[in-house]
Amino acid sequence: MLDIYRYGDEVLREPTRDVTKFDDALAMLVDAMFDTMIEADGVGLAGPQVGVSSRLFVVDTRREGERIAFINPDIVETSDDSVPYEEGCLSIPGVYHDVMRPSRIVVRAQDVDGRHFTLEADGLLARVIQHEYDHLEGRLFVDRLDDEEKAKVVAQYEKRSRGKRKHR
Ligand code: NI
Repeated sequence: MLDIYRYGDEVLREPTRDVTKFDDALAMLVDAMFDTMIEADGVGLAGPQVGVSSRLFVVDTRREGERIAFINPDIVETSDDSVPYEEGCLSIPGVYHDVMRPSRIVVRAQDVDGRHFTLEADGLLARVIQHEYDHLEGRLFVDRLDDEEKAKVVAQYEKRSRGKRKHR
């Protein structure tokens, strides 16, 4: 299992680089990310969350065909609407809040072998992809709330994690 970095850890805010080598090390990292995500009962996990400043994330909504690794993803289309959905994050465990995002997207990415693919997604899958994509830009779901909401959610998280936080 990989360590999951938490709110306040710098790596979550650092710029990410494109993946250029589609080798065994990448395949092993992606496998470990899937395992870590499932173990933590999450539906998505991005490189920066495991201390890897690379443009990749994994998603598993537990629905058929929705266990997918996205390498060097690009969201190339978004629908014009903006819909609420309650989000949480393995890097800010225990707190949840509605976030507004487009309901439908088109994403282009590469798989672990470097093959390009294009995917149109809606519902939970579209939501998770957008949330994970934000991680590659150093952005967390709380950053999408207004200042007051964000302060409330962060305070909730800090209260909850006080004393529980492991030291590295
Ligand atoms: Ni997250």
